[in-house]
Amino acid sequence: MKSIVILISGRGSNMEAIVRAGIPGVRIAAVISNRADAAGLAFAMKHGINTAVVAHADHAERASFDAALQAAIDAHAPDLVVLAGFMRVLGDDFVRHYSGRLLNIHPSLLPSFPGLHTHRRALAAGVRVHGATVHFVTPELDGGPVVIQVVVPVLPGDDEDILAARVLAEEHRIYPQAVRWFAEGRLSMTEGAHVAVAGARPKQFALHLPPLDTE
Ligand code: GAR
Repeated sequence: MKSIVILISGRGSNMEAIVRAGIPGVRIAAVISNRADAAGLAFAMKHGINTAVVAHADHAERASFDAALQAAIDAHAPDLVVLAGFMRVLGDDFVRHYSGRLLNIHPSLLPSFPGLHTHRRALAAGVRVHGATVHFVTPELDGGPVVIQVVVPVLPGDDEDILAARVLAEEHRIYPQAVRWFAEGRLSMTEGAHVAVAGARPKQFALHLPPLDTE
């Protein structure tokens, strides 16, 4: 049984997708938020999951916040820590402490559009495809090895909200998949800090693109 701790900052819909997936061999030890008003905490409590708040606002220094967060996480001795819409940048020491057992989901096809406002920036750039990425976290912001990506089209008439919703629906599919692979012991780092997924077939790398006129 793998024990996981999920970190959220707000709505928590990715956390909810992972909980609802009921992944065999996974026990959700706790959901921790850096904000007491994170809506996702209520969902976790309703599902009998331990919750905690480590408020960044209580810490003047990032190192002190990181240390408090690390203590709250390590109290559960998790095999995996899952960042699910956790909107604080974590320090290098924290990230190294969880090396190889810290996953994040980012709402773009990394390495395109790291950072914030990814959907707005994708629309402004005029890209035809967009998506989401689950990756291992390294000290480089949104720069760690990719575990799984999903591609969605950018369609005429899209605005930020429409595009965000299209991507989010796919996030809810790929994040439980990544956690399942981790729990099954199928994720490994390869040369060049790439991730290999033992036994994964191409169909598990989802593409949701419209057919071409000629098809
Ligand atoms: C998700 O779209 C996630 O990819 C993004 O925040 C949203 C959280 O939604 N994360 C980041 O931008 C991380 N830099 P949720 O709280 O409903 O899961």
